[in-house]
Amino acid sequence: MEVIILPTKEAGSNKAAEIFKYCIRKNPSIILGLATGSTPLPLYESLIQNYTDGSLDFSQVTSFNLDEYVGVSPNHQASYAYFMKENFFNHINIKPENTFIPYGKAKNIPDHCKDYETLIKDKGGIDIQLLGIGTDGHIGFNEPTSSLASRTRIKTLTRQTIEDNARFFDGKIDDVPKHVITMGIGTIMESKHVILLGFGKNKAQAIKDTIEGPLTASIPASILQTHEQATIIVDEEAASKLDRCDYYKWVYNNRPAWQRGPEDLCPKK
Ligand code: PGA
Repeated sequence: MEVIILPTKEAGSNKAAEIFKYCIRKNPSIILGLATGSTPLPLYESLIQNYTDGSLDFSQVTSFNLDEYVGVSPNHQASYAYFMKENFFNHINIKPENTFIPYGKAKNIPDHCKDYETLIKDKGGIDIQLLGIGTDGHIGFNEPTSSLASRTRIKTLTRQTIEDNARFFDGKIDDVPKHVITMGIGTIMESKHVILLGFGKNKAQAIKDTIEGPLTASIPASILQTHEQATIIVDEEAASKLDRCDYYKWVYNNRPAWQRGPEDLCPKK
């Protein structure tokens, strides 16, 4: 696990953007695993800016999103399909047919989930998986006690996640679907490189538990302790509960010269 602590959300997002840009330029047909929520927005804005100024090309990129609400159509403003279009896809030249998001209105959800898994494998697997983190330590929508070996499937959200996400439904808790389709923890763990972003005070406990707590299904993100290449990028607020904060900064500031560029953070497999 590499822990990168930067002063602000902006600095953390810039660091993540630097890695994404380098890896996309190096491998134009990269397979990206993408996330929704407030956390990745500055990263997407930065990538859009580079597309707009002509320095980044998404024409051969493929993407898989982590999750979607069950029963919500892709045209619904709170759907993750809509979110991705509004905040990223509509502003770059990624081909719509190369963007994959679980379909919340699938008639047969178990079959749809299996197909999603097969598609990820058929495309060659995810090179870089972007993750946010829930205040309860979830990744994707794998809530606490999710099997650490789980695959794409239907999940029931915790009350806490429903409350956290009510802001996307005009604050109406009762409008937030209780069920979602999410890539499993086993699915996420097969990505060659995982980049988790956590910003703000409300993520501090989840970040502490993820990095320094025991490996437990009660904190799904703690599984990243066992990933070969996981990069955790946090701001000072999200890092505020870490016991070994000084050590992580020491490590980062004393990287050998050959580890200092974004190339060192590209998928190594
Ligand atoms: P957020 O959500 O980026 O909106 O904080 C993260 C998550 O729930 O995974």
